[in-house]
Amino acid sequence: MFKGVILAAGIGKRMKSSTPKVLHKIFGYPILYYPIKTLLDSGIESLNLFIVVGKNREIYEESIKIPDVNFVIQDEPLGTGDAAKRALPYIEDGDDILVMPSDAPLIKKETIIKAKELFKEKKTHILILTSILENPSPYGRVVREGENIVGIKEDRDLKDNEREIKEINSGIYIFKGEILKKYLPLLNSENAQREYYLTDVVELAAKDNKRIISMPVSFEEIIGINTRRDLREVFKIMKDRKINELEDNGVTIFDPATTFISPFVKAGRDTVFYPGVYIEGEVEFGEGCVIGPFVKIDAVKGKVIVKDNVIIGPFASIREGTKLMNKSKAKTFVEIKKSTVGEGSAVPHLSYIGDATIGKNVNIGAGTITCNYDGKKKHPTIIEDDVFIGSDSILVAKEGGLFIRKGAYTGAGSVITEDVPPYSLALGRARQINKQGWVKKDE
Ligand code: UD1
Ligand code: CA
Repeated sequence: MFKGVILAAGIGKRMKSSTPKVLHKIFGYPILYYPIKTLLDSGIESLNLFIVVGKNREIYEESIKIPDVNFVIQDEPLGTGDAAKRALPYIEDGDDILVMPSDAPLIKKETIIKAKELFKEKKTHILILTSILENPSPYGRVVREGENIVGIKEDRDLKDNEREIKEINSGIYIFKGEILKKYLPLLNSENAQREYYLTDVVELAAKDNKRIISMPVSFEEIIGINTRRDLREVFKIMKDRKINELEDNGVTIFDPATTFISPFVKAGRDTVFYPGVYIEGEVEFGEGCVIGPFVKIDAVKGKVIVKDNVIIGPFASIREGTKLMNKSKAKTFVEIKKSTVGEGSAVPHLSYIGDATIGKNVNIGAGTITCNYDGKKKHPTIIEDDVFIGSDSILVAKEGGLFIRKGAYTGAGSVITEDVPPYSLALGRARQINKQGWVKKDE
């Protein structure tokens, strides 16, 4: 069985934060979410994924809402070897165990799959992902005798002649289950950091002539986040990767410096992003959409779907669970949440649309607000096809939903509290009174 162990119980002091390091967010998801997602995407089942976390397990579980992954507790952070040992009860001799740190969110699923295949093909006991670095400190170094790997030494434990070794340990490995079961219990903490090092398993196995191989990985994929500056750099690499990928697929991005698109976004060809776009979470854009300038899409709490030839922005905020159908528009100063805007329908100016279902060819007048919240509960608004909502309409949703039926109109400035029947005009406002001569002449 192929299983994964992600080590996530370290404290991450260098972040200077009251939040555990791997719960800091990138594009709306905790750092830890990324390696979990990558391992799942590479074919490890959630039931076979073990996340070693510290005592405060609940905060991790709450932040990582992926069903069925296992959280294993390491009470004290006594080192990577001790952390891995916590997963031993779930490991069988014949398993292939991928072990990796929790703070390296850039590793690609393709790399994991390649490592998994190489591990099988070479029938090896240990596979280590390594990189060659001109400035290898502070990483652990791969110590070789001739071609053979004989151990991994931590930066602080190196002898002078070993400082020149440029091959670094990525912290990502695959072990045969029997290797972890045999050697993890034998580790000691006689080293500079007084910690149980997972890396010492390599030396112990080498002494017993176990097969150990390496596979090269690009350093960019294994950059770990230790400081706020690392967080920012990883964010930048992640966003650049996405922009390049979209461009390769026929998407125009005019200003990569001000365009931020989450890794979980897909976009069809001829979609264009103007400057100042920030997108978190899972979003699917169709073809020929025009996004921005200055648009935020937040889909972390629920996927957003944008079909073909949709216009979003300038200055729009699109939130979780929204669906914009073909040729629909959400334009200037508009916020839309958990709503569907039907084919050819437009929300052009100054509106809040929440919990609404809007049919086809509907025009929502400037300044229209769906009052979806009564202070206790949210209620839906249903606007059927061919409706014309007059400017500045206030649509007060009620228990069971407010229905504006097919082809109906609402007068500008109306407060609509009752359902509107098909093809009728609803007026909900005071009639205008003109008081002649009200302004006295001497004023
Ligand atoms: C580790 C490797 C080093 C490698 C580097 C790559 C060891 C001894 N060293 O060093 O060779 O070059 O990763 O990034 O393994 N953790 C726990 N419990 C603990 C300690 C750590 O779960 O008691 C977790 C951390 O949350 C982290 C991972 O293990 O995700 C790695 O720990 P860290 O302390 O960052 O190891 P490094 O010193 O970076
Ligand atoms: Ca680290």
